[in-house]
Amino acid sequence: MCGIVGYIGNRQAAPILLEGLSRLEYRGYDSAGLAVRSGSGEVELVKAKGRLKVLAEKTNGGQTLRGECGIGHTRWATHGEPSETNAHPHATEDRGVVGVHNGIIENYKELKEVLQHTGYRFYSQTDTEVALKLVDYYLKKYKGGPIDAIAHTMMRIRGSYALALMFRDYPGEIFVARKDSPLIVGAGGDETFIASDVPAILKYTRTVYYVGNMEIGRLSAGQVHFYNIDQDEIAKEPAEIDWDAEAAEKGGFEHFMMKEIHEQPRAVQDTLGAIIKDDRIDAGWMGLTEEEIRELRQIYMVACGSAYHVGVAAQYVIEDLAGIPVRVELASEFRYRTLLLDTDTLVIVISQSGETADSLAALREAKEHGARTLGIVNVVGSSIAREADHVFYTLAGPEIAVATTKAYSTQLIAAYALALEMARVRGRMEEDRYLASVAELRTLPDKMARVLEDKERIQWFAAKFASAKDIFFIGRGIDYAVSMEGSLKMKEISYVHSEAYAAGELKHGTISLVEDGTLVVGVLTQPALYEKTVSNMLETKTRGAYLMGLTSYGNYNVEDTADFTVYVPRTDPHFATSLAIIPLQLMAYYVSVARGLDVDKPRNLAKSVTVE
Ligand code: AGP
Repeated sequence: MCGIVGYIGNRQAAPILLEGLSRLEYRGYDSAGLAVRSGSGEVELVKAKGRLKVLAEKTNGGQTLRGECGIGHTRWATHGEPSETNAHPHATEDRGVVGVHNGIIENYKELKEVLQHTGYRFYSQTDTEVALKLVDYYLKKYKGGPIDAIAHTMMRIRGSYALALMFRDYPGEIFVARKDSPLIVGAGGDETFIASDVPAILKYTRTVYYVGNMEIGRLSAGQVHFYNIDQDEIAKEPAEIDWDAEAAEKGGFEHFMMKEIHEQPRAVQDTLGAIIKDDRIDAGWMGLTEEEIRELRQIYMVACGSAYHVGVAAQYVIEDLAGIPVRVELASEFRYRTLLLDTDTLVIVISQSGETADSLAALREAKEHGARTLGIVNVVGSSIAREADHVFYTLAGPEIAVATTKAYSTQLIAAYALALEMARVRGRMEEDRYLASVAELRTLPDKMARVLEDKERIQWFAAKFASAKDIFFIGRGIDYAVSMEGSLKMKEISYVHSEAYAAGELKHGTISLVEDGTLVVGVLTQPALYEKTVSNMLETKTRGAYLMGLTSYGNYNVEDTADFTVYVPRTDPHFATSLAIIPLQLMAYYVSVARGLDVDKPRNLAKSVTVE
């Protein structure tokens, strides 16, 4: 949510900032702005409502803003409507402090009143303006310089923030601070970069510093210094990013989402490669000893959105294979409920970004309640990765499209590996079956690639239903988990209302919404539940539904019921989600394209939700 960039060096900052923002537009795109300054001159500010291209046009690609030091922002509105006034950067009246912010200042109203009493006036509805005027207030009150003013501000504000600030009296420097919102600093020779996420600076440097929680940074061209909240300087080692720069490009595809859908076999292959050694799952990756696995009493899987749907699928797999009770919780609910956790509870937090505010808060709650924690995370060095007791990195690479595809697929692999390992250690799986299951996992990338070969048929079908009003996705067990993700994909990028239902539950109310021509997608990959789901599909057909069946090769009698059928290769039913989801991702993609929508940046959404 919201993207921040910054640059200090010997080149013109504005074009570099615009380039960086274009890589962060997935984080928010309702307005954008730049603040640039040359030497000790005035800070120049330009803001624009709408997509980044409006700002780029307004500044002629950054050419109209001269200066070698600057900050930029792309916004996902929280406080205040999307408008030029509310767009960042914000500034004090005398431009003594200019800044950009990602996150939410929870006590901004109270602070605003206090500042108003001391004479500050406000031009925007944002919490950001309050934060930087508070910095200005402390700067003038204590006269201790920017680090001191920022530290005082951090102790006064509640909420989450990544801040990048420029001070009139400190030319050539940018100050950053962070709590619970991501921020990295890139170092490249005589240049220093700031970004919310790695892709923004990958073109310039691979050497990054992760700004820690409650830390402050003082940056100038080629120099970085970090401080804790007590203003003591702290030593920080840089990390090297080993991502391929091309991974953050579209690579010939029209949209990132389509590219990422096609990257799934490779991402799954890479992730499997990290887990499987000598035909076995390398038990070390989850960080738990065999004794700890044997002692586990319960598992919680906690996440948001698609990552939550991974948890729903994993629940069926882990309970069935390993015999451990699993509860799947939405992070936003988990964090506020009475938690009955202990050291024999494993809380697994799943997150692509590793920065989702609710998931991070849930992780902290779990730790506070004494549970062991494991993060399944894609973004290296992210907050969840750093704070969980153990972390498993999915190797999806940078995921840019707001709608997740390849990260979801790699998270599933982590869940399968966990289930198999737990089943083996707890004596629930014979050696032969274990080895056969691991071998089956290795077949998934090829099978996923085969599903992708069928995409033209799905494109044709999606075009037929591009103007659908409602779509229902139904399935039982693991197929219900697939349905949930298929439905979310459809909603988020095509804006078609859809619902996922446990197939047997539809008749308890929702079936009343089915009318002539309503599309019902029945997911049928689980042999034990096949007949049951077919019956539920028939119940909708007799009420006028148009049926799409999604099943495995061999189940050809589904065509007696379904009007249109998509087949995926056979696999162990526990792993079927990995294959069945691909046609549904494609279907959502093609419906979105047919409706002329912005597939990669759907309205109202942002890639990583760093606010509550
Ligand atoms: C899925 O397509 C969504 N964009 C969204 O539901 C996402 O999965 C959710 O916000 C969780 O994000 P995370 O994996 O980065 O924590």
